[in-house]
Amino acid sequence: MSYLIVENLTKTFMSFDALHNVSFSAEKGEIVVFIGNSGSGKTTLLRCLNGLTIAEEGTIKLNGQRVFAADKESSAKRDNESNNMLMQKTAFNQSFGLVFQSFNLFPHLSVLSNVTLAAKIRAKNDILSARQLTKREKRLKYETCKKEIISNALLLLERIGIKQKALEYPCQLSGGQSQRAAIVRALMLDPDVICFDEPTSALDPVSAGEVANLILSIKSNEKIILVVTHDMNLAKTVADKVIFIDEGEIKEQGTPNQLFDFAQSRKLKEFLTVKE
Ligand SMILES: Nc1ncnc2c1ncn2[C@@H]1O[C@H](COP(=O)(O)OP(=O)(O)OP(=O)(O)O)[C@@H](O)[C@H]1O
Ligand SMILES: [Mg+2]
Repeated sequence: MSYLIVENLTKTFMSFDALHNVSFSAEKGEIVVFIGNSGSGKTTLLRCLNGLTIAEEGTIKLNGQRVFAADKESSAKRDNESNNMLMQKTAFNQSFGLVFQSFNLFPHLSVLSNVTLAAKIRAKNDILSARQLTKREKRLKYETCKKEIISNALLLLERIGIKQKALEYPCQLSGGQSQRAAIVRALMLDPDVICFDEPTSALDPVSAGEVANLILSIKSNEKIILVVTHDMNLAKTVADKVIFIDEGEIKEQGTPNQLFDFAQSRKLKEFLTVKE
């Protein structure tokens, strides 16, 4: 059984299906690249996986566990809807990380504070809910955790090549450096699935050219990487599997060779012709 299984995900805005019965699977160690025209539903899909948008129908399973489930009937009922939200939030907090197209770093926080914020909040919540600890023990444990989080962040910043920027602010970073900070922020929570939404779109050509190596450098047997992109060179360089989305539906999926050299559908052939 695949580690990540997405089944029949449907997201409707008003009466418009941004995603319709989207199903795919991915294994740990794989990089899956999503391609498709503007407005085809790629960002909506990443947002649904990360719990930022709630799908009306479908299931998301990780390692055999259902982390999100919704169907039209239960979505209509309030209780079940909040239950869906809860499952989705758990999935978002623990298993999925998203590197936003525009990075979304907090401008008033240093790089180090940006990348450690979520991990500190998570540690604080975990410690506060540990009933067996006294107030003093909780305070001491949190101080220890904070030190571990900071040293882990510095290691990751070094690995991703921006340790020298740790104490600077987002306005002092180049686009490529901001992206690296956003990647470290996502990695800090050690998600099983890390998602990139158009990682080259906000970058100058030189930084964009480095993105493939950056993504390949974080590829590991412990993670699934999902990449949404309009950059076909990036797709060809990093993808183990390519998925073509058109008007909210998956029209074709397969190896880069199958999709780029032996496209089946008229829509994919047209899309690739425009991108050439
Ligand atoms: N919050 C929203 N409210 C209403 N419609 C939305 C919302 N978010 C997305 N949509 C619509 O859903 C469709 C899919 O949008 P989405 O952003 O997922 O496309 P995309 O494939 O990421 O496009 P692009 O390549 O331009 O980034 C679009 O028609 C968009 O207008
Ligand atoms: Mg998008």
